[in-house]
Amino acid sequence: MSRRNLKFYKGPDRTAVTLLIVIAVIMGSLLIINILKGKGSDISGSPSLEFLISGEVIKDMDLGELKENLDTQKISFYDPNYKKEKRYQGFALVDVLELGFGEQWKSYNYTDVTFEALDGYTAVSSTSKLTEPGGYIVFEDLDFKDWEPVSIKQADPGPYYLVWTGKDQTAANGYPWPWELSSMNLVKFEDQYSAVFPSGVSVGSSVYKGYQIFKGRCIRCHAMNGEGGKIAPDLNAPQSIVSYRNTYMIKEFIKNPSKYRYTQMPDHPDLSEQNLDNLISYFKYMDEIRN
Ligand code: HEC
Repeated sequence: MSRRNLKFYKGPDRTAVTLLIVIAVIMGSLLIINILKGKGSDISGSPSLEFLISGEVIKDMDLGELKENLDTQKISFYDPNYKKEKRYQGFALVDVLELGFGEQWKSYNYTDVTFEALDGYTAVSSTSKLTEPGGYIVFEDLDFKDWEPVSIKQADPGPYYLVWTGKDQTAANGYPWPWELSSMNLVKFEDQYSAVFPSGVSVGSSVYKGYQIFKGRCIRCHAMNGEGGKIAPDLNAPQSIVSYRNTYMIKEFIKNPSKYRYTQMPDHPDLSEQNLDNLISYFKYMDEIRN
């Protein structure tokens, strides 16, 4: 390399090194500031729980605020999602609902609460079911630092996980068990899910009873006309299940899917022949009123 070239490269080199040092110092400081900030927000209990009425946000509370306003309880019970005894710290569900929704919670204008999870899972439950004792929204796993991963997906159930301590308060019996719970929406079901609701039938009819079973036990996974769970196939769109499967096979499958497939769908051994016929009536009715 000639002298001339050396001289040419020397100048810019120094400047570049100085510049790099300055950039490194700035980046380092920013990183430290961010780490400190992150810690700060963890301490203030930032994961928040959102309360909505008919889809409009009315309140948003973080863990700190929930703790200030509610009694914290320690519970221990057999958790079917882990298939073992678990201990948690949390709040009674009725207390949370009353704090979040106030008087509205008892109003006849609303029939259900939908629970939405960060992973897109939605569960629906009638308000009458939610007032039963046994429901808790837990925020801490007392057997495991942070949270013990749950299910085959090894999901993180935090920041809020809805559990039920009663032996029969299972998901199969229509009790909502969402983990990664982020919001609760108080709704009048037929307004919020008009595409699932069998309008024009009487409350005691077979179609209506089938709809109640669908709403209580199937909608957390399945949709009707695009409304409802996203985990499992829509049972009415683009075509109704009753238009491409025979009744016998649909009933067989609903009762005992694990006999036919490795599937996420739970068996429903307690559904009677009458319950299954009601579900079929509901599917047939929804097939006819599709517009
Ligand atoms: C935990 C989620 C879940 C629940 C709850 C659930 N299912 Fe399913 N279901 C599935 C999935 C996923 C499939 C997709 C196919 C498979 O995995 O076998 C399915 C498939 C079906 C099928 C179609 C079978 C076929 O391929 O023709 C029917 C019918 C059905 N479910 C009805 C119901 C009814 C009725 C209920 C309520 C009583 C229900 N499911 C509850 C997850 C669920």
